[in-house]
Amino acid sequence: MKSKTGKNTRETLTLKYGWKFRLADAPEMALPDFDDSGWETVRVPHDWAIEGPFSRENDIHVTAIIQDGQRKSLYHTGRTGGLPHAGKAWYRLKFSLPKDICSKRVRIEFDGIMSHSRVYCNGKYVDTWPYGYASFAFDLTDFIKQGDNILAVSVDNKPLASRWYPGAGIYRKVRLVIMNPVHVSLWGTCVTTKPLNEKTAQVDIKTTVENHTGKRQKVTVETTVIGPVGKKHASSSETRTILKSGVILQKIRINSPVLWSVDSPKLHTVLTTLKTGGKKTDYHETLFGIRYLKFDAGQGLLLNGEKMRFKGVCMHHDLGPLGTAVNAEALKRQLSMLKDMGCNAIRTSHNPPAPELLDLADNMGFLVIDEAFDEWRMPKCKNGYNILFDGWAKKDLLAMIRRDRNHPSVIMWSIGNEVPEQDVSSGAKTAAFLHNICKKEDPSRPTTAAFNSPDNAIKNGLAEIVDIPGWNYTPNSYAAYKAKLPGKPMYGSETGSCISTRGVYYFPAEEERNPKRKTLQVSSYDLACASWANLPDTDFRSIDENPFIMGEFTWTGFDYLGEPTPYYEEWPSRSSYFGIIDLAGIPKDRFYLYRSRWTEKETLHILPHWTWPGREGELTPVHCYSRWDTVELFVNGVSQGVRSKHHKNMVNRYRLVWSGVIYRPGELKAIAYDNDGHPVKETAVRTSGKPAGIQLTADRKEIRADGDGMAFFNVDIIDSKGTLCPGADNLVRFKINGPAEIAGLDNGNPASTEPFHADYRKAFNGSCVLYLRSLKGKKGRILVTAESAGLKKAEAVLSAR
Ligand code: GAL
Repeated sequence: MKSKTGKNTRETLTLKYGWKFRLADAPEMALPDFDDSGWETVRVPHDWAIEGPFSRENDIHVTAIIQDGQRKSLYHTGRTGGLPHAGKAWYRLKFSLPKDICSKRVRIEFDGIMSHSRVYCNGKYVDTWPYGYASFAFDLTDFIKQGDNILAVSVDNKPLASRWYPGAGIYRKVRLVIMNPVHVSLWGTCVTTKPLNEKTAQVDIKTTVENHTGKRQKVTVETTVIGPVGKKHASSSETRTILKSGVILQKIRINSPVLWSVDSPKLHTVLTTLKTGGKKTDYHETLFGIRYLKFDAGQGLLLNGEKMRFKGVCMHHDLGPLGTAVNAEALKRQLSMLKDMGCNAIRTSHNPPAPELLDLADNMGFLVIDEAFDEWRMPKCKNGYNILFDGWAKKDLLAMIRRDRNHPSVIMWSIGNEVPEQDVSSGAKTAAFLHNICKKEDPSRPTTAAFNSPDNAIKNGLAEIVDIPGWNYTPNSYAAYKAKLPGKPMYGSETGSCISTRGVYYFPAEEERNPKRKTLQVSSYDLACASWANLPDTDFRSIDENPFIMGEFTWTGFDYLGEPTPYYEEWPSRSSYFGIIDLAGIPKDRFYLYRSRWTEKETLHILPHWTWPGREGELTPVHCYSRWDTVELFVNGVSQGVRSKHHKNMVNRYRLVWSGVIYRPGELKAIAYDNDGHPVKETAVRTSGKPAGIQLTADRKEIRADGDGMAFFNVDIIDSKGTLCPGADNLVRFKINGPAEIAGLDNGNPASTEPFHADYRKAFNGSCVLYLRSLKGKKGRILVTAESAGLKKAEAVLSAR
């Protein structure tokens, strides 16, 4: 990496390529002349563990998971994904700085390192930041020199530290920022907005300026606000004499502002210019949005004066086959699918997310609960956050708030999830400590926490301390909690925990809790849930019946690596069954249940598939997720009866059920009727023949040729008529000709030990997904070929630009 400054403001260099990596540990790895030529060369963001191999021996947790109701220790194999994330490793990067660097300030910014990182520059220890989800920065000015420099980062990922797959290494972006001695601090712009009257918004901009010249300086802060369409709104200029640092507050009024909302996520920009002695010394841009939020104990949530409810999902941070190495395109694909489902809110369970997620949420229109911790002082895992809490909780919480406070998407600070402190009387004191940090730093947003032991959290005062308590898995008690805390707005911070495997159906279709089968799969009739949880239908009913509830955050939007409930001890289960969308990114049936509830879109979805050789003549229940209330079902043209949604009985309340259907090969068809009885939409699934070919469907025609551009291909095994073969598990091999590479492959099977990084993948229940990534700076035609023995191959072409 080479830098040339010479600019009169700041220069930001993303440190992406050329890192050396080794899974080993020795003190001399910090030294500048250490020979790392034999080390692997990697790009950052990097997750060292995602390439595997999977093994049941990786990070075994012999423990009783108390919150899951376990009374005795179990031998948990895939709890953190079965991947080799525990261990010590080093990263080294050589970078070169220009001559004039001695007159500059240099800062290194890390969006997140998993975990217990220690940073060295030119052999000298700089500093440490242990929490793997925090963003942080260090001043390197006293460590760097002109010419070649060596940055070395040690990582120590402890076993027994997480309840899910945490990832490993420098899994988020790294930047070097070169600045003049007078500059805006890290996260030094703070924008808050409020309505002044019906037509005018007031925007308060606080700018923290640092002066490293050693002398008093007259600093002018020029601030301009630009509207969503580039319209300049207003400017302010303030001059102040600053010795070391100072905070300048500027107030700008905006008439008839364009408001930010989930349906119209319009962003404004603050342009900040610093000048000393008439010369520009720094320039910095900050995005923000103008939106008015009200949390009301009776009405719930009002955004810009309109009542809305959270149609939310909880999300962990991994990106399936990419692991935790952040990629904005992969995140955007996830959010686009959630948006299509009608989701309007995300809870970043249970840690601060990558900054890219918040940028996307701002731009695409999602509300975000930004969550700090899964543990306080009392452990859930031996080496979890409890070992850091006393020394780091305040620093980590401040880092989250300061980094994220300008995002209009961020609406609440969550200080914790299901902390065991709910059950002890001292818990309220810790809650107050964290709550007060949030309020002092950002009085504009409420605090929240997610409680799974609400009675105790209410009794012990924790629930009273946060502004807005969140309830996990207690949909039948919302009214009781409301009676105890009448002045508090509240919501379902975790709901559902329904479990299923895409494309798998077991008979009879019955409600099940923590069901286990030899296949290590869970039926997709959406009637199974964890033992402490409930079906989505119960949450819907409870939200319908309790208008004060601000909505729900379902566990979870996507499957994630680790936590393979209910298969705690059964290897190779190694990823979750909770997702509405599977780990590869293919919607499960449940997707359409939420879509039919959360949107007005024309959703009409029937399950199961209709290819059941050997089941001829047997009872094969059919369910339908429909936006319309009335649907008629046909098997080979023969009506199986009309079902209408009705609200007295839970069956047919949110889904329509035909329990007496007999399987006969052919066509299963549903016709939806409007309120006047007119047919408005139909859908069908057909019995497939034998696998005959492959269908390759790309989600785009072009990818950005910058090394981060991605395209996603759905790969389906089809019969000679083009019908999906729902049981197919053919092995598919991929060839890429042109400037792109395979970034990962997955099929959504939570119990597969096939590597995510290979050029082949078995289909699972008919499908798999190819994640393709561009090569930096290489443009041109890309030909993707998918082949499988005995099947007609498929090809797709796209271009890298
Ligand atoms: C909750 C917990 C989540 C996840 C979920 C699974 O209790 O907060 O992290 O474990 O259960 O149902």
